Amino acid sequence: MLPHMQGRVVWVTGGGGWVGQALLPLLHARGATVLAPRSHELDITDNQAVRAFTRTHRPEAIINLAAAGPLDDEQRQVQVNGEGAKHVAYAAMRLHARLVHVSSDVVLDGRSAPYDDNAPAVPLTFYGRSKAYGEASILMIYPQAVCVRTSLSWDPAAIDRGTGGFAERLAAGEPCKLFTDEIRCPLPRTVLAECLVRLVDVPVNGTLNVAGHEALSRYQFGLMLLRHFRVPGIERVQACKAEDLELRGEPRRPRDLTLRVGHAEMLTALPLPGVSDLLGTLPNQ
Ligand SMILES: NC(=O)c1ccc[n+]([C@@H]2O[C@H](COP(=O)([O-])OP(=O)(O)OC[C@H]3O[C@@H](n4cnc5c(N)ncnc54)[C@H](OP(=O)(O)O)[C@@H]3O)[C@@H](O)[C@H]2O)c1
Repeated sequence: MLPHMQGRVVWVTGGGGWVGQALLPLLHARGATVLAPRSHELDITDNQAVRAFTRTHRPEAIINLAAAGPLDDEQRQVQVNGEGAKHVAYAAMRLHARLVHVSSDVVLDGRSAPYDDNAPAVPLTFYGRSKAYGEASILMIYPQAVCVRTSLSWDPAAIDRGTGGFAERLAAGEPCKLFTDEIRCPLPRTVLAECLVRLVDVPVNGTLNVAGHEALSRYQFGLMLLRHFRVPGIERVQACKAEDLELRGEPRRPRDLTLRVGHAEMLTALPLPGVSDLLGTLPNQ
């Protein structure tokens, strides 16, 4: 059954971002009263501002999408993904509000896939550590919260940042190297958004995997999307191995982040499609 959102006050952080752009229309369509200030209007790293905002608006549910990405300044990643997440958790605790926090598969090290919901966080990258810090802090402050570990977020109707970057490289006549030995479970952002909305009313806490049920390599995923969006220059896509870069001294990245997602599918009664369910047969590798 679809969650009843009519008139419910929901605060979404990071609503202007990639996932937020799928989530906000869904909440509006379900009749929720959506509060989605941009970061210049409400910065979650400012605890006093978060306290004042939540005292005034008293949201009954909070969906925390706000994040600094892996390319952002490291201090910023700690501030937003760690300290900011704490401020949101304290706010949820004070209000007894439902808190759905969005974390990432990169809190895992990629050495012991497939991962269950409660796999301990063992991040390899700085960004992964900042997201793991956020998860751990939230669950310590407010154990009733659910921390959604999700994978690459894509959209068959809109080109995502990663694929857009590959397309730019190809347009500039450059080669585009995609890893065959990095495995992920991508999920359309609209499905992630639907799942987050449903989780508002599902009594589950702790960490929960929400990703596509199909594991594929970054090479397969990238090629599928470049073909789907008919990006020119696709013949310059090259298969390569993350392992080779690491042998040349690049920092280690998680290899296989296959997540078991049956629990989330069961709890939310929402199938979590794989890429081939929507785009057809996968290429080899
Ligand atoms: N996209 C993916 O493939 C992916 C994969 C795994 C996990 N995730 C997780 O999913 C969530 C959403 O990702 P996304 O791709 O939608 O991110 P995004 O497009 O980079 O958007 C991030 C949002 O966070 C907001 N934000 C940043 N700093 C803030 C601050 N100090 N206070 C308030 N808001 C702040 C930004 O707001 P303004 O625009 O207003 O500045 C922006 O809207 C993140 O937690 C991310 O870690 C994403």
